[in-house]
Amino acid sequence: MLALLVHARPRRILEIGTALGHMTANLAEWSPDEAVVFSLGTVAGEPATGSPQQAPEAPPRADFGRLAGHFGKGHKVFLTTADSLHYDFSRLAPLDFAFIDGAHDLQHVLSDSRKVYEALAPGGCLVWHDFNSPIAWVQVRQALEQAGLKERGWEKPTPSLPTPRPRFGGEGSRNTPSPPLPLPRGERGEE
Ligand SMILES: C[S@@+](CC[C@H](N)C(=O)[O-])C[C@H]1O[C@@H](n2cnc3c(N)ncnc32)[C@H](O)[C@@H]1O
Repeated sequence: MLALLVHARPRRILEIGTALGHMTANLAEWSPDEAVVFSLGTVAGEPATGSPQQAPEAPPRADFGRLAGHFGKGHKVFLTTADSLHYDFSRLAPLDFAFIDGAHDLQHVLSDSRKVYEALAPGGCLVWHDFNSPIAWVQVRQALEQAGLKERGWEKPTPSLPTPRPRFGGEGSRNTPSPPLPLPRGERGEE
């Protein structure tokens, strides 16, 4: 995913699912200096929707996004504690790059994907974690198969200047350019 990020050179970046801020730090490090990174997530002890299996992933408030400035790029990061199911992503539009890694059940991935898609700039990138997860309650693939997202750039191409297409990708392997901030081992046995 970070190779794609470097290539895309996005200015407005979103992460859903902040946790401790490992990937937030990488998004800030590997994006252009003028980029901004919005990262949104839940914290332990506050009401949130989602599957019970994922509840342990919510960090204590004191740890939320704690590592976002690991590479000295914390000034690029805007952290928000919120439940993505109720969040209006249009306030962050236009987004050039979005990493969807919050609640992984069908309802949330569908909701996050559709709302972020609407906030995506032409040519923007959408990336999901755990697309091919074998875990039953991780339903990213099913959500994307239902979402029916179209590559909107092709709907009304300008004859002389084709509109860039949104680009979609999965981030299932955590393969990243060196040296990224190491990510913690997950609870789901896929890392
Ligand atoms: C797999 S972790 C994210 C890991 C992080 N993106 C990284 O790569 O370092 C998933 C995170 O999503 C958050 N989360 C779960 N349900 C959410 C919801 N409904 N809205 C926003 N965040 C949610 C949890 O707090 C958890 O920290």
